[in-house]
Amino acid sequence: MCGIVGYIGKEDSKEILLRGLEKLEYRGYDSAGIAVANENGVHVFKEKGRIASLRESVDANVVAPVGIGHTRWATHGVPSKVNSHPHQSSSQRFTLVHNGVIENYDHIKRDYLQGVTFQSETDTEVVVQLIEKFVKEGQGVEEAFRGALKLLKGSYAIGLLDEQNPDIIFVAKNKSPLLVGLGEGFNVVASDAMAMIQVTNQYVELIDKEIVIVTRESVTIKNLEGTVVERAPYTAELDMSDIEKGTYPHYMLKEIDEQPLVIRKIISNYQNENGELTVDGDVRQAMVDTDRIYIIAAGTSYHAGLVGKQYIEKLAKIPVEVHISSEFSYNMPLLSEKPLFVFISQSGETADSRAVLVQVKEMGFKSLTITNVKGSTLSREADYTLLLHAGPEIAVASTKAYTAQISVLAILARDAARAKGIEVDFDLSKELGIVASVMETLCDDKEEMEQIAREYLATTRNCFFIGRGIDYYVGMEGALKLKEISYIQAEGFAGGELKHGTIALIEDGTPVISIATQEIVNLGIRGNVKEVVARGANPCIISMKGLEEADDRYVVPAVHELLTPLVSVIPVQLISYYAALHRECDVDKPRNLAKSVTVE
Ligand code: G6P
Repeated sequence: MCGIVGYIGKEDSKEILLRGLEKLEYRGYDSAGIAVANENGVHVFKEKGRIASLRESVDANVVAPVGIGHTRWATHGVPSKVNSHPHQSSSQRFTLVHNGVIENYDHIKRDYLQGVTFQSETDTEVVVQLIEKFVKEGQGVEEAFRGALKLLKGSYAIGLLDEQNPDIIFVAKNKSPLLVGLGEGFNVVASDAMAMIQVTNQYVELIDKEIVIVTRESVTIKNLEGTVVERAPYTAELDMSDIEKGTYPHYMLKEIDEQPLVIRKIISNYQNENGELTVDGDVRQAMVDTDRIYIIAAGTSYHAGLVGKQYIEKLAKIPVEVHISSEFSYNMPLLSEKPLFVFISQSGETADSRAVLVQVKEMGFKSLTITNVKGSTLSREADYTLLLHAGPEIAVASTKAYTAQISVLAILARDAARAKGIEVDFDLSKELGIVASVMETLCDDKEEMEQIAREYLATTRNCFFIGRGIDYYVGMEGALKLKEISYIQAEGFAGGELKHGTIALIEDGTPVISIATQEIVNLGIRGNVKEVVARGANPCIISMKGLEEADDRYVVPAVHELLTPLVSVIPVQLISYYAALHRECDVDKPRNLAKSVTVE
């Protein structure tokens, strides 16, 4: 979603800002802009569309050692040049970029800014106008900045330039992620360390409701009352090769191929000296103490949560509910006496999940975050964290994070079973090792996946994924992958449920991708396939060795029956990828989507 960068130093800032914004492109955006300041004033360049268009519009003759930049994902007001950031105050003295949502922007307009002519339809513009108003009333800039922030309800990460003092970038944060990066003779601002990792790996974390005065030589953090806060920097453990595509045409393909390696990394990170896969003692204790687990997640992470429920219930015998985070806050079920909340989030920044975390913390309940991003908001704010060790996931469509989440959930369930003295009759470490090898075989079979995509999905308008039990959840993830990147209308259904309505949509040639990896429901799902075939469907059965039948389109090598989602999802990911490619879609940056959804 929206991204922020800032630079204050001695070099020309334009290229540093543009490169930083390019690194944030993966988060999803629809317009972008930069503002740079020099002795001649502040120069704003912004464009609807890609950063490549912004690059073209930037005046190369303007050289300025200070600047802020932004990628916008529209919330208030359509994607347009005028609504894109940076926004300026009426006199153009102040220039501001903002991530998040100012929930009370209407009230602020009404109560404080009557008579001000607004240029854009955004909620953001009230902030910059408010600062100008307070300064015009006689306040110093820092005081006006703090005063304006105190009036805001909602989420924000902000970078602000003052034309009259181009030696400072003012920064603030509440609920939206923002970091300050430290350099020699320069400092930077970024909503994600990835944006500025090419210039520094030293970052200072900001806490909600702090402001920062950033100059070339100093970074001063204060709270909203103006008291200085000391905080040591940390080293961002990001490798440039992790965030480059290398020889791959798309990040998505690279990330699909990385899955065997990720599984091996997870095994080595969670293995104890006896070779057992375990979690920290305090996480184990929380699992033992709880009487019901509530998994909270969105998108792909929600689908991983559904698989996780099976693991925790089957292995550790703890009841689990899985909830979509945006629904949970407003529609909370009756909670058990000793609930444990498990937040699953690749980014650790999903605002809907964070809203639930804030609520359950207020209620005094324990929480665990399973995330790929160390130090992310959900990780910092939960009681415990389990990391995915998947490396940065850049393609909007999540792939390696999904399989990493499922693996970590399996480890969590296995560990809890051990702690509760429940017998588990298989060696998870060994079985995950087998999964990694099978994943490699599947990733090597790209030609076949491309062929399947061409055969079934080249021209279709819609597609169904069906499965039963754990295969149903993989079908849901398959449908999400396909629709996200190829824009084919796709739905995942429980095989047995089709006949209660959805089967009406089956026409001659409708592709129905069926996942069949579970012995217990093998006959059932095959019966469901017959039902759709009788109505004209074009069936594509993805089954597992040992359960296959003559007409199955693809047979994956056998793995432990609980771990099948880790391998059956790979053909589905690759088929979706090739379907999107055939349709000439922007695989890594699908329309309308954002990688990290930081607004509720
Ligand atoms: C967005 C992304 C999805 C992701 C979901 C949840 O919608 O496009 O790929 O699954 O957010 O994100 P999280 O970071 O919380 O896992």
